[in-house]
Amino acid sequence: MCGIVGYIGNKEAYPILIKGLHRLEYRGYDSAGVALTDKNGKLSIYKAKGRVADLEEFCKDKNISGNIGIAHTRWATHGEPSNQNAHPHYSESESIALIHNGIIENYAVLKEQLIRNGYHFQSSTDTEVMVQLIEYVKTLNKVDLCTAVQLALNEIIGAYAIAVVEKDNPDQIIVARKSSPLVLGIGEDEYFIASDASPIIEYTNRVIYLEDEEIAVVSRHEPPRIITIKNVEKTHEIIQLEMNLSQLEKGGYPHFMLKEIFEQPQTLRDCMRGRIDVSCQHVVLSGIIDHRERFVNARRIIILACGTSWHAGLVGKYLFETFCRIPVDVEYSSEFRYRNPVIYKDDIIIAISQSGETADTLAAVELARQAGAFVYGICNVVGSSIARNTHSGSYTHVGPEIGVASTKAFTAQLVVLSMMSLCIARALKTVDDAHFFRLLQELNRIPDKIEKILKLNDAIKNLSKIFTYAHNFIYLGRGFNYPVALEGALKLKEISYIHAEGYPAAEMKHGPIALIDSEMPVVAIATDNGMYEKVISNIQEIKARNGRVIAVVSENDTVVKSIADYVIEIPATEDCFDPLLTTIPLQLLSYHIAVNKKRDVDMPRNLAKSVTVE
Ligand code: G6P
Repeated sequence: MCGIVGYIGNKEAYPILIKGLHRLEYRGYDSAGVALTDKNGKLSIYKAKGRVADLEEFCKDKNISGNIGIAHTRWATHGEPSNQNAHPHYSESESIALIHNGIIENYAVLKEQLIRNGYHFQSSTDTEVMVQLIEYVKTLNKVDLCTAVQLALNEIIGAYAIAVVEKDNPDQIIVARKSSPLVLGIGEDEYFIASDASPIIEYTNRVIYLEDEEIAVVSRHEPPRIITIKNVEKTHEIIQLEMNLSQLEKGGYPHFMLKEIFEQPQTLRDCMRGRIDVSCQHVVLSGIIDHRERFVNARRIIILACGTSWHAGLVGKYLFETFCRIPVDVEYSSEFRYRNPVIYKDDIIIAISQSGETADTLAAVELARQAGAFVYGICNVVGSSIARNTHSGSYTHVGPEIGVASTKAFTAQLVVLSMMSLCIARALKTVDDAHFFRLLQELNRIPDKIEKILKLNDAIKNLSKIFTYAHNFIYLGRGFNYPVALEGALKLKEISYIHAEGYPAAEMKHGPIALIDSEMPVVAIATDNGMYEKVISNIQEIKARNGRVIAVVSENDTVVKSIADYVIEIPATEDCFDPLLTTIPLQLLSYHIAVNKKRDVDMPRNLAKSVTVE
């Protein structure tokens, strides 16, 4: 979490930094700040609690200028959101300023030592310790800023992406990273730094991704010099980005989330392009084909993920077990990494992460690698840490997802998992040819079916008005739709702040049914698939206790229609692809309820899109 951005060149830095902060605001938005060095070498910091817009308001009547600056948008870890705790932070003498994304685990010990050496702290953040330590080391050893950063980082335990500027050296920014992302943008006599490429793409598509424990010295007139914290010189290939600016704009939609929901037919076509051939006879995932033997001989699959990606993983379990007959465990990365799990060398680990930066998933991947397992990544962000730390993988290719609540990344994760399971099943011969072709053809039709569901947007918007003031919701599904129930409830919680629980429908009678009364809306996924009759019985049980049922049903359904209070009709598909369709109306329902409640849909309170702290 937290977004960092920096600029050095011949243009005014402030507008570039503010625009960059807006692009990174999805990473955190409880306070923001900027540090600039002006022509006279004066280093100034401006910061404000709240959104980037609050920082702009604060800076409105200030005379801010300078061609070099760093800026930060924060998601609080140590210390509440406040002006004092906002970044950048000054060193004791106010000659150095620093911004940071990550967590310093040994900050308390370092802080105590620095206080003993006469340093004073203005904030309760772990970050301030870094800038003070850099100044302390610099003064003590009489070294330049880069060496001081290097020495200080050797003392630090934790995760960081930092940018540091110094009053007496107004022609350079020092950046470094470990376990938090950092990208350098290479322009003409100008350089950009950012947590991801979105603030950079407007100016240049040439970037360098820093690796862990690397430091870059970024100066106006020469290419960045890269060294490690252990003083090894490095050279890096410049990568050409394929992202375009329109992907970062709302394109006429009121929110990124709605835009991203509506993009799904196209993003899923993009995700399948070149992987399923036009005649739907083959699925080609090079990440699997290159390691065919590994997959064919896998003893077990362990899927690691967090949040929405974990829900995709749960659908993955149903897919792999159904088609490949390989046992699958789905684990929260945060639990897996700390519980000494049993990992066999012939296990396949699949790490799912939209951002590719989720700290817990990254650490869980590292653990699995150390145990000798083969790790496959399903990521959206190209070049992200998880993508780079896995043996093989598949990108979801949905373009930047900016709304904090994940939508298009989720459905693309489901498509990748579907393609993977079919690709492996083919190699294992666990699915016969006719069935395989039928499934591929159906997967290929899914984007058209989603287009049809999106036409229900107005009807779902009307439906949402009935439930805007509900205090609780229950979501029910079975089989492949059980994870969708969890995901539907999560979407509602995240953006409307209504308490919601997802449940496997049959489990209701073991507790949650006690909650049912006429005040309790129940969203039941009751499409005409393998569990249809069973779900109908579960709906009957809810109706018998006066619950209000909104059912997602297959077109032409008559039975559920006659029992449920409201129905949303969607096209039929194969059981295994049902989640790709049933999730769409639930995304729209959550979105409209949140809009009715005037919630900040794209930046819900307390959340961040990229969770780079554990
Ligand atoms: C955060 C986001 C969720 C996301 C989760 C995992 O909580 O708000 O939308 O599902 O992190 O993120 P990842 O990037 O690993 O998929």
